[in-house]
Amino acid sequence: MLSRQIAEKLRSYETPFYLYDIDLLRQTLDSVTAVASRYGFKLHYAIKANYDPRILQTINEYGVGIDCASGNEVRCAIESGFSPNGIVYAGVGKKDKEIRYAIEQGIFSINCESLQELEQIDRIAGELGKVQNIALRINPDIDPKTNSCIDTGQADSKFGISYEEVMENVDVINSYKNIHIKGMHLHIGSQIRELHVFEYLCDKVNAIVEHLTALGFEFDFVDVGGGLGINYDVPENEPVPNFASVFSIISQHLKVGGKEVHFEFGRAIVAQCGELITSVLYRKDTATGKKIVIVDASMTELIRPALYGAYHNIENITSEETRKERYCIAGTACESTDIFDQSVSLPVTRRGDLLTIKSAGAYGMSMASRYNQHDLPGAVYSDEIE
Ligand code: LLP
Repeated sequence: MLSRQIAEKLRSYETPFYLYDIDLLRQTLDSVTAVASRYGFKLHYAIKANYDPRILQTINEYGVGIDCASGNEVRCAIESGFSPNGIVYAGVGKKDKEIRYAIEQGIFSINCESLQELEQIDRIAGELGKVQNIALRINPDIDPKTNSCIDTGQADSKFGISYEEVMENVDVINSYKNIHIKGMHLHIGSQIRELHVFEYLCDKVNAIVEHLTALGFEFDFVDVGGGLGINYDVPENEPVPNFASVFSIISQHLKVGGKEVHFEFGRAIVAQCGELITSVLYRKDTATGKKIVIVDASMTELIRPALYGAYHNIENITSEETRKERYCIAGTACESTDIFDQSVSLPVTRRGDLLTIKSAGAYGMSMASRYNQHDLPGAVYSDEIE
């Protein structure tokens, strides 16, 4: 994480920019790969969390696979040097050309989210003269106890196929000749901090695998998705997420014989290694007495607060004041929800100060937009700061 000593050096870069701590990324990857290998678990990094080339290159050194959500993400993974046979591809709305590309590349698994999609994968694989490995993404109907904007596994969600629908269509599913159902996939949501929900997930998976096996399905692997949350409140307390706990829960509760167990973490791998560095442009007070700090970043660099009401810890890294004040930290975009924090206590803050918006390595840059014709932010890597 950012040390104060380098704060002054950061003044030489044009703000706003993402600052990536490559040492912390490596510590995180050391941790997740060491614990996973203890249990024999397979990892796929959810590339949607961050596509930064340096981050991808570092992740690739650890030999993990990739989880993708579009044809272009599959392409990005392959062009970044990841092996197709470690790539899984989920997504509710795969287009024909995306399915075709994934099959041509020979990826490890297409994680299929509807019966109609299954039919299309079978057709396209047939046209290409191939048999494609797939996993059925089952909706397990579990409340992941997270922000409702990012839960994906409750019964009325758009993600996955309902278990009931699978049971009613076993013969149809087994009739396709150009697909090979190798796995079962689930992903219940993101930023999960109440780890006991992974126990419920295991209980559901155990029951589903048992029933489907009795009906003649032969799965080689179960992919339990991603979702492990991070500490946004006080990132310094938990720079490397608690992979050991979630792996231990899955290892104790998942009873799927000798099947491979796969994970698809995104946020837990990259969130804490990224911060958004922004300069204070203006200070003003509203008629109601609110002290507003306008920074040069906005929702176009980091949309999570505006989109989900997400909290990010903010610090002033250059102020030498000891007196603190409460500020509303607002961005430059022409949107009223473009607020990073409605009320944060910071040392007295002035034009030209640098603020860091922490834990922004996941779903920050990858969700950036060019609304208001803003420039996209740059990236600075901790080991390249002069
Ligand atoms: N696997 C699948 C099928 C997914 O849909 C996702 C995330 C992941 C894995 C990775 O989940 P993670 O380990 O990162 O929780 N933009 C939102 C998060 C959206 C997550 C979408 N799916 C945010 O900023 O919080």
